[in-house]
Amino acid sequence: MSDQSLNGPIPSSVNSLSGAATRTAAVLPAAGRGVRLGPGSPKALRQLNGTPMLVHAVRALARARAVSLVVVVAPPGGAAEVRALLDEHPLPETVGSTVEVLVVPGGETRQDSVRRGLDALPADVGVVLVHDAARPLVPVDTVDAVAAAVRAGAPAVVPALPVTDTVKQVSADAGRERGTPEPVVATPDRSLLRAVQTPQGFDRATLVKAHQRFRSPGEGATDDAGLVERLGVPVVLIPGHEEAFKVTRPLDLVLAEAVLARRRVNDGF
Ligand code: C5P
Repeated sequence: MSDQSLNGPIPSSVNSLSGAATRTAAVLPAAGRGVRLGPGSPKALRQLNGTPMLVHAVRALARARAVSLVVVVAPPGGAAEVRALLDEHPLPETVGSTVEVLVVPGGETRQDSVRRGLDALPADVGVVLVHDAARPLVPVDTVDAVAAAVRAGAPAVVPALPVTDTVKQVSADAGRERGTPEPVVATPDRSLLRAVQTPQGFDRATLVKAHQRFRSPGEGATDDAGLVERLGVPVVLIPGHEEAFKVTRPLDLVLAEAVLARRRVNDGF
């Protein structure tokens, strides 16, 4: 589907959406090894109902009204393989042919991978959604809601859900040996906690500045909004969706296939 923002007025409250920077693009980090899923190919290339997770994720983003470009960040050294995979699974006609898909190689950490995706964005992109390939079933309404909130003037928007488990805090040096009892240091008030998802949406200039300011040593940031918070820029939450869960462990694959089966029954999707 085409980027409707090209046909409509640019919200005046989005200061950085000036000049020609009117498009919304999605960066899809997909370079993780997915060790918690067990042995096998990189996580994004694992199949759900016969289709690679990565392809599900690209389709979920491309279906959004606002998104006209998806930058897929492939495992380092795997860009050609990912390009071939995407060519084998073209976007369905219903998604529209105007969505462009680029592939770039990723880095050692998620943060490096996102930065490489940002580097590939053309100049006319003003809004960026960063979406984990590991959340292949995010509903299109969630993607559109994030993009709309950024276009309405919020510099950083994150979908989130209340936390259902009580969360315990441990000390930084605790639990190094797996299975060793860990002393608890605090129990945060659960009603004040939220579990965040992706896509996280940003004014492009703000996100690029955050990535330039806080370059990653070691593991890097696990979430882009966290970097923007460190800049002192406000981040807001909007309602997430239970189907935007992250496929991390083997049981998540079972859940994802059940969601796809339910969708097929409900709407022939
Ligand atoms: O490891 P985690 O589950 O937090 O990864 C979230 C997303 O970041 C996944 O889609 C994964 O493919 C991606 N990632 C990446 N480059 C890395 C590590 C993770 O693109 N080096």
